[in-house]
Amino acid sequence: LIQTIAWHDGRVRYIDQTRLPGAETYVETASWEEIAHAIRTLAVRGAPAIGVAAAMGVALAGRAARALPVREALSAVAVANAGLASTRPTAVNLFWALDRMRRVAEDGGWTSGEALAEALAQEAVAIHTEDLEQSRRIGEHGAVLIPEAARVLTHCNAGGLATGGLGTALAVLYAAHEQQKRLSVFVGETRPLLQGARLTAWELKKAGVPVTLMTDSMAGAAFARLGFDLVVVGADRIGRNGDTANKIGTYPLALLAREHGVPFYVAAPSTTFDPDLAGGQEIPIEERAGEEVMGLAGVPTAPPGIQVWNPAFDVTPHALVTAFITEGGVIRPPFPGRLPSKWTAPAAVRSQP
Ligand code: MRU
Repeated sequence: LIQTIAWHDGRVRYIDQTRLPGAETYVETASWEEIAHAIRTLAVRGAPAIGVAAAMGVALAGRAARALPVREALSAVAVANAGLASTRPTAVNLFWALDRMRRVAEDGGWTSGEALAEALAQEAVAIHTEDLEQSRRIGEHGAVLIPEAARVLTHCNAGGLATGGLGTALAVLYAAHEQQKRLSVFVGETRPLLQGARLTAWELKKAGVPVTLMTDSMAGAAFARLGFDLVVVGADRIGRNGDTANKIGTYPLALLAREHGVPFYVAAPSTTFDPDLAGGQEIPIEERAGEEVMGLAGVPTAPPGIQVWNPAFDVTPHALVTAFITEGGVIRPPFPGRLPSKWTAPAAVRSQP
């Protein structure tokens, strides 16, 4: 289990993912603003982990305000909630977790800031614990789909680092590995920020799962010349029809999988499904700074002053998804009406940065 993020004695401890794989650095903070910064800069990233971190950020704000009169403490917590909501737009887990924290704050009838702070901390820890349990169940349900000696392709990082500690797509692979199925996992490096190379390869190597790295542009050749038994990826937001936003570069892999007759699985907890969105065209797609594409680790790789397009996610149409692997089981088409729909966001949490 990777210690991605934890609540310790009123402080949050997280692994700084921007420094992996070179350094395994843990940061401790009592400031919700620092958590917001960590999410924005991808020190904490991956849809479920962003949700857990944001919940803990709100809990930190509650703790910092615990000596204030209830009304003032509540307004400090609301400011933190709004600030955390403006960090990244695509992963719906963020808005789901913040909505849960908002409900705790608003529904309490608090007699002291101390009681409010305690309830927020408990809720954040509960969100973390539930996330771990969901990962474990995703792994269990998904492992059934993995044949013995499978050659598997994944993308970006949907591992322990992207969740409370076990992963979604990688939880499936970890579970299959534990069942002694001999896996061979391929991952594209995932430009521009290299989550595949830096994070997934690091995680799988640490877990003793054989991993092969390639650049993203090698995917077509890999399907044609090596062949895969399946593709499994995570997700950042899934619409009611099953259209799936995930890290940029996922959609072409789904097209390749269809062309080559390879099953394409999306592993995600129910917190990643957004019942408020009919389909993929409504999913807000984050666009990040051009510098991420114009260089590698601070070294320029493009002439200065040119235009750059840098969307962080793409949308895979539901018709290309073989099945969703959720904590409740494997869901196959037709998807409408079968996907998790526990949560509907109130207008306040749907605002985007
Ligand atoms: O920009 P990132 O690194 O936060 O993007 C992460 C992904 O796209 C993951 O595949 C997704 O969040 C699923 S994580 C279980």
